[in-house]
Amino acid sequence: MSYYEIQGGRPLEGRLEIHGAKNSVLPILAAALLAPGESVIENCPDLSDVSATLDILRLLGCRVEREGDRVAIDASVLSRCQIPEQLMREMRSSVIFLGALLARLGEAELFYPGGCELGPRPIDLHLAALRALGAEILEEQGSLCCHQTQTNPAGREICLSIPSVGATENAMLAACGCESTTTIVGAAREPEIVDLQNFLRSMGARVSGAGGSVITVEGGVPLHPTRYRVMGDRMAAATYLCAGAAARGAVELVGVDPDTLTAVLACLSQAGCEIHTGENFIAMEQWGLLRGIPPVRTAPYPGFPTDAQAVLMAALAGGEGSTMFVENIFDSRYGHVDELRRMGADIQVDGRVAVVQGVGRLRGATLRGTDLRGAAALVVAALGAEGMSTLSQLRHIRRGYENFARNLRQLGGEIRELP
Ligand code: EPZ
Repeated sequence: MSYYEIQGGRPLEGRLEIHGAKNSVLPILAAALLAPGESVIENCPDLSDVSATLDILRLLGCRVEREGDRVAIDASVLSRCQIPEQLMREMRSSVIFLGALLARLGEAELFYPGGCELGPRPIDLHLAALRALGAEILEEQGSLCCHQTQTNPAGREICLSIPSVGATENAMLAACGCESTTTIVGAAREPEIVDLQNFLRSMGARVSGAGGSVITVEGGVPLHPTRYRVMGDRMAAATYLCAGAAARGAVELVGVDPDTLTAVLACLSQAGCEIHTGENFIAMEQWGLLRGIPPVRTAPYPGFPTDAQAVLMAALAGGEGSTMFVENIFDSRYGHVDELRRMGADIQVDGRVAVVQGVGRLRGATLRGTDLRGAAALVVAALGAEGMSTLSQLRHIRRGYENFARNLRQLGGEIRELP
């Protein structure tokens, strides 16, 4: 199994183009099923989660061709509506295919995606939304057999008790298959939802309200294939910024909208980083020790994003001063803490609360990736640490970061992947 070798202490300097957003392209690829014909998705990142999604599209009968960051998906003929359990387990966000398959074919057979390193990942809100739109869903021994009971399914008002990103996306896609208007109340407001709305609009769908908590999808509109460019990955951007903050230096990111990261940029500014932003551009300079900042409470957008919690914690652990984190979204998203402690981090965890006391400089150590953002956080910490670190379990990194080590080397980081 390959691993990273990271020599800490080198400042990061330079400019980096941010790849397309994982959490935007996955639902968009599923949405390509909604219209017969060939859609082209641009700025599609080269990630293992994307490859798994393309494999599912092929399995369903689509012709899929990839050339660089451009993916062509011909969904003219779908030959099946089942997604095998193994593929569901490989990538739990495949549950997003439920809404798209119900809209296009009126049936779908998936499996419970199951939990992951972040804890249980229930899909009750997804299933309730789809049932409200006429789907009958039989759950037995972990499988989900779904079919549309109505010939011309009517739209409905759907109320989400939690602004779930995935449930909002599934409801939007299923609503595209209804004959009348669906209103999603309590919708997630993440920028990736807006990107999905824009993609659906480019297919001819009449969707509005994304970015707010009420989304409306007019039904009965025939959809056509499209060409669409995916937004930049704000979580990859947050990761590179935290790497620059931890290692010190001056990092410029292009291809990401700073307005999608305001909560993270505010924290980095409070910690002492100098931040400048422009159209699809974020620049950050940091040459001293990061300061402790007021409590960081993860929340649905536009609150502080849970996906940036680990990487910010890793940067602050090597600074000075104290910062309290409260992880309100997932039940166990502190898997990276034990690994950071191996580097000398002083972090006390009690349930959802983690208090980080900066120790001035972390020490290199032998590290294991725990989950996608936790593994990235360990790279952030190692780049700012004294001495050499190694990181194994790189499969977590490959799920969400394109050319991670190469990009960090481009910024001057001493990181290489060894077999
Ligand atoms: C999306 O996951 C992202 N994944 C996650 O990013 C992100 O952390 C999360 O949204 C929150 O922003 C993708 O977009 C592929 P949720 P999702 O449904 O949709 C509870 C990463 O690092 N919930 O918004 O699965 C759930 O348990 C990944 O890139 C229910 O109770 O997240 C959680 O506590 C990690 N019932 C909360 O809602 C449901 O039916 C938010 O989850 C659905 C969710």
